[in-house]
Amino acid sequence: MKFFIDTADIKEIQELAASGLLDGVTTNPSLVAKSGAANFIELITEICKIIPGPVSAEVAAMDYETMLKEAERLAKIASNVTVKLPLTYDGLRVCKIMSNQKIMTNVTLCFSANQALLAAKAGATFVSPFIGRLDDTGADGLQLIADIVQIYRNYPELDTQVLAASIRHPVHMLECAKIGADVATMPPSVLKQLFHHPLTDKGLAGFMADWQKSGQTIL
Ligand code: E4P
Repeated sequence: MKFFIDTADIKEIQELAASGLLDGVTTNPSLVAKSGAANFIELITEICKIIPGPVSAEVAAMDYETMLKEAERLAKIASNVTVKLPLTYDGLRVCKIMSNQKIMTNVTLCFSANQALLAAKAGATFVSPFIGRLDDTGADGLQLIADIVQIYRNYPELDTQVLAASIRHPVHMLECAKIGADVATMPPSVLKQLFHHPLTDKGLAGFMADWQKSGQTIL
């Protein structure tokens, strides 16, 4: 399972890249605005230098012509840029063109299995179903992940990867891993939560106290 982080904050990306556990980064217009970065192209350029894996950069246009130009511009930033496109008719048209040019794509704002099927038909590298936002409406976000994984398995010719997005807490992560999502993108706070368990902290405190008593050293 690949681990992506969902942030456009350079400091957070640098900090978590040092873990050696990060496979990629996803950004979106809201995260870019939150980062306070002055220049989107420069921001993505910098992230692509920190993380060698896929870095999702989202188009901002809604119409086909402008979206295509933006996608082409973003793709030129670096070979690991993944052009993020909305799950709309025009977004999927651009996705197909990018896919024919072997440019990585991430089709975002996916809220149904039929939409995910369309993204795969358009040759998307990744499709991003949003778990948390579906849960917020009273629907079952994890069920959507399970449905898409099952549907893609039925058709081995579809090689789009399921990128579980809008992850809000560690249980979302756990269930995505059990279902078999290819990738999970999570906020840095959720990634940090995965490291912790109270019994680890308690056990470590006990070991350290006993080690002190033993009077031994390793170095
Ligand atoms: C995914 O690519 C999106 O950027 C993200 O996961 C959305 O998460 P949110 O619903 O917490 O904003």
